[in-house]
Amino acid sequence: MSDDPGLFEIMHTTRSMRRLKPDPVPDALIHKILEAGACAANGGNTQKWRFLVVKDPAIKKAVQVWYKKAFDEVVGPRYAASAPPPGATPERYKRQHGAVEYLTEHYHEAPVWIVACIDEGPNPPPRWAGASIYPAVQNMLLAARALGLGSTLTTRHLLFEAETDGALGLPPGVRSYAILPIGYPMGNFGPVGRGKLADFVYQDRWGQPYITE
Ligand SMILES: Cc1cc2nc3c(=O)[nH]c(=O)nc-3n(C[C@H](O)[C@H](O)[C@H](O)COP(=O)(O)O)c2cc1C
Repeated sequence: MSDDPGLFEIMHTTRSMRRLKPDPVPDALIHKILEAGACAANGGNTQKWRFLVVKDPAIKKAVQVWYKKAFDEVVGPRYAASAPPPGATPERYKRQHGAVEYLTEHYHEAPVWIVACIDEGPNPPPRWAGASIYPAVQNMLLAARALGLGSTLTTRHLLFEAETDGALGLPPGVRSYAILPIGYPMGNFGPVGRGKLADFVYQDRWGQPYITE
């Protein structure tokens, strides 16, 4: 019998792990994560996705400056002013805010980033463009978790999209959709908290409770 947690255990414990050790992560593990990402579906199987693996401290720092500016100007004040979301207690929300601040300060210290991009060419992306990259992103988060590595889906850099895509050296027509900072977690994996299905699953008519057998 394998000791590996099963898929459902992995899904139920793939939390955002924002406190990461700076210790290096073996390339073989990053390779496995990338292969898991590339198993995902994408529109028309056109595979316009591109994944930039960033280890260069100078590049990560150049992006972190914008990520922090977005926290200071937008995200931090929003957190401070908002109530806990469904499924989160005030204590848990406060801990999350602390972790968000920690990641903001230490974003660039994660040993490896995977930047998930789409090569869209000259046309503006349609409303559903992200649907061709976020399944890959989620596969990579699950794979990292399965390998004992922590990460977080981050998109805040997009508040300064032109600046950060520039700092990442993306060519014209290529846009980033997420940055996954990856490293060994300082803390433990634990259950995610999203509230009850009954609060957000309906049957046949909007607002009508979904009945489970
Ligand atoms: C579209 C999207 C963007 C996100 N961007 C960020 C981000 O920029 N920084 C961050 O710390 N967390 C980010 N998160 C992580 C969420 O804040 C996190 O999933 C949520 O707080 C729930 O926490 P949990 O993953 O630990 O259960 C993002 C998640 C999603 C789905």
